[in-house]
Amino acid sequence: MGNAVKTIGVLTSGGDAPGMNAAVRAVVRTAISLGVRVKGIKKGYNGLLNEEIIDLNSRDVSETLQRGGTILYTARCEEFKTEEGQKRGAEVCRKYGIDGLVVIGGDGSFNGAKKLAERGINAIGIPGTIDLDIACTDYTIGFDTAVNTAMSAIDRIRDTSNSHERCSIVEVMGRNAGYIALWCGIANGAEDILIPENFDGNLPRLEQKIIDSIIANRQKGKTHHLVVNAEGIGNSYSMARRIEDATGVETRATILGHMQRGGSPTAVDRMHASMMGAYAVELLCKGKTQRVVAYRNGTYVDYDIMEALEMQKEIDPFMLRVSRMMAR
Ligand code: ADP
Ligand code: F6P
Repeated sequence: MGNAVKTIGVLTSGGDAPGMNAAVRAVVRTAISLGVRVKGIKKGYNGLLNEEIIDLNSRDVSETLQRGGTILYTARCEEFKTEEGQKRGAEVCRKYGIDGLVVIGGDGSFNGAKKLAERGINAIGIPGTIDLDIACTDYTIGFDTAVNTAMSAIDRIRDTSNSHERCSIVEVMGRNAGYIALWCGIANGAEDILIPENFDGNLPRLEQKIIDSIIANRQKGKTHHLVVNAEGIGNSYSMARRIEDATGVETRATILGHMQRGGSPTAVDRMHASMMGAYAVELLCKGKTQRVVAYRNGTYVDYDIMEALEMQKEIDPFMLRVSRMMAR
């Protein structure tokens, strides 16, 4: 039986993530090996609307497996949230003969994929975000690289913090999701981990808890104090100033920022990206649409996009408990 699609489009959308190139490469090479043509759509849905579309063959994705960022560029596109934008997006797909689309990104990008699917373009989502905040999957491409980058940076900060017997506040990425902060908190041995999932909006109370824990730890003989703060909970610099004033302990804040989103992907990211890219193409070739590829309980599976978007993800309470016990 022939493939259900003849030409697959692939785009990366939302924040970039290490391993996106490995996923694009897997899409291209799987499609070509199944006799399907591939077109790269640059700059996410923006590039679709602006018709920034290129042919991709096997050689075009050579030497990309190990590269961070995305060779297709990425963007956020407000226009695509409108019906007009979505209608035009589907028209552009048809104009270029794209009858199947792979969207590599987060929940927002999957919403866009769903809109195109409703307009007759078979679409599959692949989870690509450093935030690990897509509920249907245990893994999102980019997380392992980002968390290792942040962990290495925090190790270095910890060295100097220790030497000066200081308190360090290190701000990691994750405006709406605390996974990088929680993993680093455990992997770097933080005394306090601040994550949006646990934040009730009362910053003075949160800071007072940190102040109390610094004072208690000094009395226990701890000579340094590490706070890992997920982006978005207060301002780390002013938090540091207030903590220093209240405790008398020299306190410095470091914002790791976008360095966490760059760099060569780890083996974990290359592996998941390659598997998910190939899986997405096979789904399209079987005539599937409106699906999200996921890694669940050690195996690759797929979910209906709507079902996936409605799932909720909660921070593992055991991880939280462990992080607290390790900080004693
Ligand atoms: P992520 O995919 O990482 O969650 P965003 O939420 O920024 O990132 O979404 C990326 C892009 O996906 C948006 O800029 C927009 O073009 C598209 N998008 C997001 N939400 C929708 C929606 N409800 N309908 C159509 N397109 C959407
Ligand atoms: O991609 C996810 C993410 O890195 C979040 O952790 C962060 O809050 C956001 O993107 C930052 O986005 P921007 O690229 O707009 O600074």
